[in-house]
Amino acid sequence: MPRIPIMADGLPSMFLEELQDDFEIHEWETSADSAALATAQAVVVYGHPRVDGPLMDRMPSLKVISNHGVGVDHIDVAAASERNIPVGNTPGCLDAATADMTMALLFAAARNIVIGDRYARSPEFVEYSPAILIGREVTGSTLGIIGLGRIGKEVARRARGFDMPTLYHNRRRDPQAEEELGVRYALLDELLATADFVTLNCPLTPETTGLISTPQFQRMKKSAILVNVARGAVVETDALYRALVDGEIAAAAVDVTDPEPLPRDHPLLGLENIVIAPHLGSASDRTRRRMMDMTVENLRAGLAGTPLPYQVMPTA
Ligand code: DGY
Repeated sequence: MPRIPIMADGLPSMFLEELQDDFEIHEWETSADSAALATAQAVVVYGHPRVDGPLMDRMPSLKVISNHGVGVDHIDVAAASERNIPVGNTPGCLDAATADMTMALLFAAARNIVIGDRYARSPEFVEYSPAILIGREVTGSTLGIIGLGRIGKEVARRARGFDMPTLYHNRRRDPQAEEELGVRYALLDELLATADFVTLNCPLTPETTGLISTPQFQRMKKSAILVNVARGAVVETDALYRALVDGEIAAAAVDVTDPEPLPRDHPLLGLENIVIAPHLGSASDRTRRRMMDMTVENLRAGLAGTPLPYQVMPTA
């Protein structure tokens, strides 16, 4: 059987090897004279490469776009639908890992884990002192979750274990989640003004782009900590920098930035009161495996012309 030409971006090499028997895998590239674009029957992408209508039009054999992840803000799903190209993603399998990461970042910022690590390794640490790096107690503090989807709900579950009164803000109220998780709906302004920790767990959409900017930082407690595991562009980067420098909020911990990565000389990288992770939300062994399996299930279904098991529908 001849191998099917596909284009792939960002897949871990251990997974690429598994696909070699069936697929002729071309590294992602979109140059004007790309021969791979002309022949590829599928694209497997992760996160960043933008897949829009004009690019799809340069791929006459394209049958399916399989995204290795849940967020599809980089794919023009409506344009794909107009061209009858199904788009698949990996919902559900990464909720726990991403919620774990939300809590890990929250704790890292609250309890000075990163600064503490640097200090503990440095020549300055010569004697234990009870006066240093006194952080914020997480247990019992109020949490505000922006985006109570699958991941946000997992964060709420974890917060219960830390006795955190939890507010949420979402496009729609979710009475069932309120009942099951003991969370309370709040308008965005109330959530921002009340929460000790604000976590962003929403998708990037036109409505959430720039959702957190200077006015929102000004509403937050000066002691508040912002955690972003959603997408960098949910927060305005310059406003975040100013809020951290001017003390509008105490600290931030982010898994994602805008742009991503930040330019190496970006002033945010020089601040002590921000923890920055390189987009590790779903980067755990079991989750990556499941993401890969779902990505390949979507890929094979699209190539066979059958419905994708995990298909993204264009928003109305
Ligand atoms: C997603 O699934 O969108 C994540 O950002 C990938 O880890």
